[in-house]
Amino acid sequence: MKGKLESLIDRQKLPVHVAIIMDGNGRWAENKNLDRISGHREGMKSVRSVITAAKDLGIGYITLYAFSAQNWQRPKSEVDALMELLKHYLLKERDKLIENGIRLNAIGRLDELPKTVFDVLKETMEMTKQGREMTLTLALSYGGREEIVDAVKKIISDGSVSPAFINEADLTHRLYTNGMPEPDLLIRTSGEMRLSNFMLWQIAYAEIYVTRTLWPNFRKRHLMKAIINYQNRERRFGLTGEQLKKREAI
Ligand code: FPP
Repeated sequence: MKGKLESLIDRQKLPVHVAIIMDGNGRWAENKNLDRISGHREGMKSVRSVITAAKDLGIGYITLYAFSAQNWQRPKSEVDALMELLKHYLLKERDKLIENGIRLNAIGRLDELPKTVFDVLKETMEMTKQGREMTLTLALSYGGREEIVDAVKKIISDGSVSPAFINEADLTHRLYTNGMPEPDLLIRTSGEMRLSNFMLWQIAYAEIYVTRTLWPNFRKRHLMKAIINYQNRERRFGLTGEQLKKREAI
């Protein structure tokens, strides 16, 4: 039986792509007098729960900001623990991803990951590539500015586009997200009103939803609230109300 929140969701107006900045693991741990790593471990429970919930609700793409390009500067013990958690997650969950038709994808400077993590990641992506229900993208060693720089490097080294003809599509096709739809909804947990270098190009027209809930406390009901909030907004894409009506009538 569907709960009250779930019955408020309009299945015809679901966001196709939901991106999440998972923030607040450290604060969750601090509030409980635990070390930061316990916060990340607890955050994994939210990762599992949100992936299942997104798939059950019929979301096509979910992208999680799991490790930023800047996160390498955290204490080595924390970086190591995050890498271990990631590897553990991939090894433990890969069968469940396959069973549920979830394709794993990753964006970021993946060659900067420790080799063992990189190998398990590539292997899991290969094992899940037939998944058609949902695409789960992990942003790892990811930075939005770095991604744009990498795209520009590709354009230049391709040598196929002359500068006068470079357009948005040329860049879009060289981003790590090539082939994916742009996020419709960006969720950030733990209250900060920042983008923190996440998908800077792709979220140009995304609806942003910030909740004070700390990531380790985030569950299906929080995701549903974000979706309901999203569905009550009017997306304009820079157009007037009249233009939007015409576009919808086509
Ligand atoms: C931000 O909290 C969270 C991260 C830097 C990492 C998120 C990682 C996980 C949830 C676990 C690994 C994920 C996967 C998909 C395997 P913070 O530490 O910045 O919190 P704070 O701002 O309260 O200090």
